[in-house]
Order: sequence, then structure tokens, then C-alpha cells
Amino acid sequence: MKALVSRHIGGPDSLELADLPDPVPGPGELLIRVAACAINYPDVLMIEDKYQSRPDRPFAPGGEIAGTVAAIGNGVQGWSIGDRVIAVTGHGGLAELARAPADLAFTLPDGFGVEEGASFLLTFATTLHALQDRGNLRPGETLLVLGAAGGVGLAAIEIGRALGARVIAAVSDSTKADAARAAGAEHVVIYGRDIDGPDSAKRLGRQLKEAVGPDGADLIFDPIGGNYCEPAVRALAWGGRYLVIGFAAGIPKPPLNLILLKGADLRGVFWGSFAERDPAANRANVDQLLHWWREGKVRPRVGRVWPLIEGGQAIAWLGSRAAIGKAVVTINREQEA
Ligand SMILES: NC(=O)c1ccc[n+]([C@@H]2O[C@H](COP(=O)([O-])OP(=O)(O)OC[C@H]3O[C@@H](n4cnc5c(N)ncnc54)[C@H](OP(=O)(O)O)[C@@H]3O)[C@@H](O)[C@H]2O)c1
Repeated sequence: MKALVSRHIGGPDSLELADLPDPVPGPGELLIRVAACAINYPDVLMIEDKYQSRPDRPFAPGGEIAGTVAAIGNGVQGWSIGDRVIAVTGHGGLAELARAPADLAFTLPDGFGVEEGASFLLTFATTLHALQDRGNLRPGETLLVLGAAGGVGLAAIEIGRALGARVIAAVSDSTKADAARAAGAEHVVIYGRDIDGPDSAKRLGRQLKEAVGPDGADLIFDPIGGNYCEPAVRALAWGGRYLVIGFAAGIPKPPLNLILLKGADLRGVFWGSFAERDPAANRANVDQLLHWWREGKVRPRVGRVWPLIEGGQAIAWLGSRAAIGKAVVTINREQEA
């Protein structure tokens, strides 16, 4: 099969199209003929060995896919060859064939396209787990979303609204602000591309406090970290919760005195580990999300699409901070139902 592989540590330019032996599904796995693979920030990090999981090389990046079932591993029930499927692979999705644990595979309903389908699971399941299970977001609460025009950011706006919250978004520029508003944010703060000193951090703290209102944000969803974290912590409400989602701008060290003074909680979110430890709870979350998708309350927002040979450009788009919505790579288009 053809795959876009990382043979050595490097950026998106280091990926090569290669012929690899067809993978064989192990026990508990499906083999999927890939129609589309969505790119996520971990792909940017993984090819540079900066992510927590480091697959043996050569490996294809690509953590979530849509396609059709090509083979079924021992012990897997409920699937037939040719079924439309969406799945989380972790890596390996930028290839004609990919293995996925059956626990992380779900039927792609008729009428939903493969590009949207590929963009759904990791992004939306992470975000529902974050807001609902870890954040205990309640109707009427104020939710502040940082990096709100990215993959999980846009999902957080939509899921926050579906859970009945008032959503305030924060992004780096006005085009991203438009995308956040279109997804349902009530108010958008534009913070620019650099928080490079105490003055810009204080300015951002004031902007965020003003946007969330005098009572502060009940819940903050932070996929970027870096120098954006401390100003955001300052906008927390008394008893607020701060969700640690990711570190696109670096790993922050927020002053813990602020957490004490606000009687607040810092809560880590690790969807992959949650889904592995509690597949039934994850499945219930995905069912809820598919229901909301059918109702039109949430929908994956595909920003740009590339063919497999240009898959590195999709990863570069995320890494350059240009992405609005999801970057998707299409493969085997003739398989699309
Ligand atoms: N904890 C979990 O279980 C879990 C699951 C999935 C993803 N994640 C994490 O969530 C984060 C976002 O993932 P994603 O796939 O949504 O990525 P994405 O679409 O690229 O969004 C990331 C956002 O971060 C902001 N950003 C700030 N500084 C940046 C920089 N130096 N480079 C790139 N972006 C920067 C950008 O928004 P602005 O330009 O508006 O600032 C961008 O829209 C990643 O850190 C990822 O690892 C965590």
C-alpha cells in the first residue's frame, strides 16, 4: 500500500510517499481502507519526536480516519466488510490502509461525508470529554475557549453551546474571530500572535476579564498554553475550573497562588487514556455527539483538503498557525460511498 511516512525526525517536508506491506489487523482491530484522514496538532509534534507517543519509524502520521472496513480482526463483532466507518488510529492514517482498535471505531452514518467524518472523532470526543466529564459544564455558565478557531477550539464553541453555556472565544486574528463567531461564540477577544512580555500579558488579562464579565469564567478550555495561560487564569471565576488540553504555544507554569486565591481547580484532560480506560463511557459520548451532528447542533468544520502526496502541506498548515477548522487529506477517493 501507499503511505506518507516519516523515516527520520523532521518537519512536514521530511515525509515521503512509500510502498509499505499491507497491514494485518490484530485481535480486537479493524483494517480500514482509508478515504480521508484528518490532521491534528499531535501530527505536527509526532514527526519531530516531540509528542508523548513515539512510534517506531518508518511510520505514517494521521490519527483519525474515515473509510470502509477492509478486514476484521479476531474477536471483533458487529462489523462487515465494506461498512462505512470512522476511527481513531493514533498514527498510520496517512495511508491507503490503516489499523484501528475496534473500541475506537464507529459507524459513519449515511449522508455524512468522509472529510467531515474523518474530522469528527478525536476533535469532538476530546472536547465533549473535556467540557462535560472533566469540566462539569452546566447550562448558563460562562465558558472561555482559547485558540478557538482551531480543531478542538471550534468544537468547544459548538459543544459549549449545545451544553447550554455562554461561550466567549479568544483567537489571534480577525479572520479567526469571524470563524469563532460563525461557530456560535457570543463575544470574541483577539489576542494577537505574541504575548512576549508583562505588558502584553496584562493587556490580555484585562481583555479576557472584560469579555467574560465581572463574575469571571466558570470554565476555561485551553489547548494552547504558553504565555496565554496566566492571563486566562486571571479571568477565572471564584470556584472556576481550568482545563489543560494542550500546548500549541508551549507548556506554561501558571502561578499556583492564583488557583488558591480563586478557590479554583486545574484539571488535566487526556482523551486517549480516558477512551482506553473507559470505552463504554467514550462510546456513550460519541453516540451523543453523533446525535447532535444529526440534529445540526455540531458539525465538523473542514478548512482545507489535500491529496495524499501533498499530505505534508496539511501538517505544515497546522504547524504554521494558519489553520481555521480541520486540515484533511483524501486517499482512495474512488472508495467514497
Ligand atoms: N488532551 C487531549 O486529550 C487532546 C486531544 C486532542 C488535541 N489535544 C491538543 O489540543 C491542541 C490543539 O489541537 P488541534 O488539533 O485543535 O490544533 P489546531 O487546529 O492547530 O489548533 C491549535 C490552535 O492553537 C493556537 N496556537 C497558539 N500558538 C500556536 C503556535 N505556536 N502554533 C500553532 N498554533 C498555535 C492557534 O490559534 P490562535 O492562532 O488563534 O492562537 C491554533 O488555532 C494541541 O496541543 C493538541 O495536542 C489534546
